[in-house]
Formats: sequence, structure tokens, C-alpha cells
Amino acid sequence: MIPKSFIQELLSRVDIVDVVDRLVLLKKAGANYAACCPFHAEKSPSFTVSQTKQFYHCFGCGAHGSAIGFLMEYSGLSYPDAIRELAQQLGLTVPEDASALRVQKADTSSLVDTMARAATFYREQLKASPKAIDYLKRRGLSGEITARFGLGYAPDGWRGLEVVFPDYGAKNLLEAGLVIENDQGRRYDRFRDRIMFPILDQRGNVIGFGGRVIDQGEPKYLNSPETPLFEKGRELYGLSQARAAIRDVGSVIVVEGYMDVLALAQHGVPNAVATLGTATTGNHVQKLLRQASRVVFCFDGDNAGRKAAWRALEASLEQLADDKMASFLFLLPEHDPDSFIRERGTEAFNVEAARAVPLAGFLLRELLGRNDTSSAEGRAGLLHEAKPLIGRVQAPLLRLAMVKELAVASGFSQAEVESALGLKPALAPWARNPRAATRAAPRHSPSLSRTLLKLVVHQPELAARLPFELIPQDRIETPCWAQSPTRYRSAILGVVRQPCCSNTFARPRMRPC
Ligand code: UTP
Ligand code: MN
Repeated sequence: MIPKSFIQELLSRVDIVDVVDRLVLLKKAGANYAACCPFHAEKSPSFTVSQTKQFYHCFGCGAHGSAIGFLMEYSGLSYPDAIRELAQQLGLTVPEDASALRVQKADTSSLVDTMARAATFYREQLKASPKAIDYLKRRGLSGEITARFGLGYAPDGWRGLEVVFPDYGAKNLLEAGLVIENDQGRRYDRFRDRIMFPILDQRGNVIGFGGRVIDQGEPKYLNSPETPLFEKGRELYGLSQARAAIRDVGSVIVVEGYMDVLALAQHGVPNAVATLGTATTGNHVQKLLRQASRVVFCFDGDNAGRKAAWRALEASLEQLADDKMASFLFLLPEHDPDSFIRERGTEAFNVEAARAVPLAGFLLRELLGRNDTSSAEGRAGLLHEAKPLIGRVQAPLLRLAMVKELAVASGFSQAEVESALGLKPALAPWARNPRAATRAAPRHSPSLSRTLLKLVVHQPELAARLPFELIPQDRIETPCWAQSPTRYRSAILGVVRQPCCSNTFARPRMRPC
């Protein structure tokens, strides 16, 4: 644990403007600094950094936080790593009793180094393997893409890595998941005779590998195990390379496979990432929606693809905002994005992507597929299944739109759907029924202006003696008072003669003011 006192000390010494400015070029804008937001795509700057308050805030996407939060978001650092980075920038040493942090620091930095050395080794090995190069060529990959994604080859042999790690028994190799130790304590390379896909974190460090067998074999892909560096549910293949394109385009395409990312990038769709042989998680979606306003899930058209899409839908429900959307693109069963874009071309892929079904539509379509609404049971089943899903949607307008769609599809009224789903009505009753306004309006203790207005309504002759200088200008009644004392008087007399309908005098037959 890092002592709280150290974190406070750090935050009191650090200037968030310096921290952000190192990574995002800031411009002075009045009392604050501004830039185009690094967390979503935009053309005019809505990202601000306040020196006095020491936080950043984006009016566009709502990103918000301290210097530590900024480093975590921008560079994908963990909390202790962000603290360590800041401490380093300020020349501070993380205190002695932060033993856990020091241990972690030592371990992960050497693990990063270990992974980087392994990646270099695999890249070199690819150059020396005609068989591996031939395979990549047969898969249609260009040298440029192979280099951009740092592809490599793990040679066929039990201890290939020994060339670069003469201390083959080192703890790091096991911890990085590069070697496997058998029951007798004997070690061997995890990846043998495989095409190697390095997986990078947001800073561009190699944190894991995917290894594909050449041609046929089982398993087709072998992935690094979870390590202190690599947590599959948080990482996305290709994000580091796709990041700039995602921000430029404002959308990100999520596919299933390594080869899909590469093929799309090679054919001019550089904003694609892949989950790593796992289902899409809420964390994935959250990460992506910070950088793009639209996530398009593109799954294979087979049964497994539909299941994966449903999991992605579930992971997205809580993450969506009213200005962020997720949609779903299903290719024909015989295609994955790789084969589709090679066969049909970039234009056709973009047309498909633009036609992706928005989340609400996909959800309803699936539920209607399972519940026949021509029967009462089907209609009940529809709402029953929708309840836990719609309850997780945090975006108020999207939720309202979904409720309305469900109402139409199920034949229940909107209010009935809301009550069946255990939702609070999306809008306050008075917003739906203006006649309820006066009943629903919260009661406040009467203000001075309200009291005075009441007074002159009952005794108009008092209008001439009103203490205008005491009447506050910031009340809801203020529009009823004119600007100058003379106009006040005539306004009040007007009010008295012909009462208006301001909140103060809400009465059924009054004229609108
Ligand atoms: P696919 O089986 O759809 O393979 O797995 P692919 O991406 O189309 O691969 P190619 O085109 O045959 O080379 C999709 C993803 O699922 C994970 C990998 O991340 C893969 O990219 N996967 C698949 C595994 O982790 N292990 C496997 O054995 C198979
Ligand atoms: Mn494929």
C-alpha cells in the first residue's frame, strides 16, 4: 500500500498542467487550459485543465479527474504505476514502507523488459524462417502490416528462448508466461513453431502473445496466460496501433480475431481491435467508449458469433451514454472480417459497418425471436426477459426509447412497461401531464417577492409603497417584476388587474405571462 500522506504530498507538489501538457498540447484559454480531448474524437477543444483546481474536465465526454487519474486514463497505467510515474517526474522517491509498491515495480518493469526481449527474438526468427514468411504471404499479409504489428515466429524446438535468455531458469521467464515448468521442474518454451502476435498495452509495451499454429494444428491459437502484466478481460489486441485512427474516425470496430485486425488494417480500416479469445467485458467497452463515440461489434455470422454478440451487448448495457452508441454487424456465416474484406473489398466492408444494427434494435430483435407476442404468455415473457437488461441501461434517453419500443412491441402502455420493469418513470409526471404540474411542483417556503406579490394582489393600493430595493432579483418571480421601480409599479398594477400565470399565481384561468 502507498501511504495516503505520500499521495497527498505528491498531489500538492505536482502541477496537472505540466503533467497533461507533456502528453497533450495545451493552450491557455482564460483562467484554464484547453485542448481537443484525448479521450474522444472532436474537432473543437472541449477538454479543459484547471490549474487552480488541479483537475481536468472534458465538457464533451465527461472525462474528469486529477493528475493521477489523467495518467491512468491516458497511458493506461494502474493506480500505483501512475503514482510512481508522477513521483519520478517530480524526482520524489516512493517511501520506504511502500514495500508492496516497490516489489511490484521491480517485478513488472523487469517483466516488461523480458517480454520486449522475447518479442525482438521472435521478430528476428521470423526473418530467418522461410516457412513462416510463406505462411504469412499465403494469408495475404503485407510486409508493412507484419512489421507494424511486430509479428514474429517462435522456432520449433524446446528451448528456443535460451538464445536470448541464457539464464533460462530465471523466475521472470515463468512469470511472464514464456516458459512452462513440468512436474519434474523441467522447463520448455510455451510457444513453439508458431506465428507470434505481440499484444501491447496502451503504452506500447508487449504484455502478452498470441501464437498461431502454422496451417493446421491444435490449439489453433495459444495465448499467454494471465500474468502481472496481462489481464485478458482488460486488454484488446491492436488497440495501441489503432488508437490514433479510433480518435480520428470517432468509432472503433471490435472483431474476434488477430487476423481480422490485421486484414482490416491492411485494407484501410485501421480502427479495429480484437478481444483476446475471451468474451467482451464491461471494462473493454468502457475503455473503448472513452476513446470513441461508437463501438461496432463485428462478429462472425455463425452461432458462436451470435452468442459472442449477445455477451457484448450485455457488457455494453451499463457503459452506454446517450451520446455513445454500440451497434452490431453480422457477416454471413461463411465469412469473418478477414475473409470478407479480402473477398469483397474495403468499400463493401464500410457499407456493412454503416448498416450495423444499433444495440436497442438488436436487443429487441433477439427478445422477439424468443417470445411470440401473439400470446399473452409471449408478451409477458418479453417483458420478463427485458427487465434485467433494460434495468442495466444507465443512459436515460436510450432507456426511455427502449421502453417505448418495448411498449409498442408488447402492446402494453409505456407506464405499464415501466412498472413491470420496476423502473422509475423516465420523466416526472408533470412533464408528461402538464395539468399535474401544480400538484407535483415541490413546495418552497414563500420568498419575499412572493409574499409581496400576494400582498398586492389582495391589496392593490399597496403597490405604490412596495420596498423595491429589498426585492431580490434572482427569484423565479423576478420576470413578473420589471426592471425599474416605475416599471415595477406598472407591471404589478398590470398583474393585479390582469393576473398572470407565473408559478406564483398558478390559477386555472389566468393569462400566460
Ligand atoms: P477463430 O477460430 O475465428 O480464428 O478465432 P481466426 O481469427 O479466424 O483465425 P484464422 O483466420 O483461422 O487464423 C478467433 C479468435 O479466438 C481466439 C483467438 O484470439 C482468435 O483470433 N482463439 C481461437 C483462441 O484463443 N484459441 C483458439 O484455439 C482459437
Ligand atoms: Mn479467420
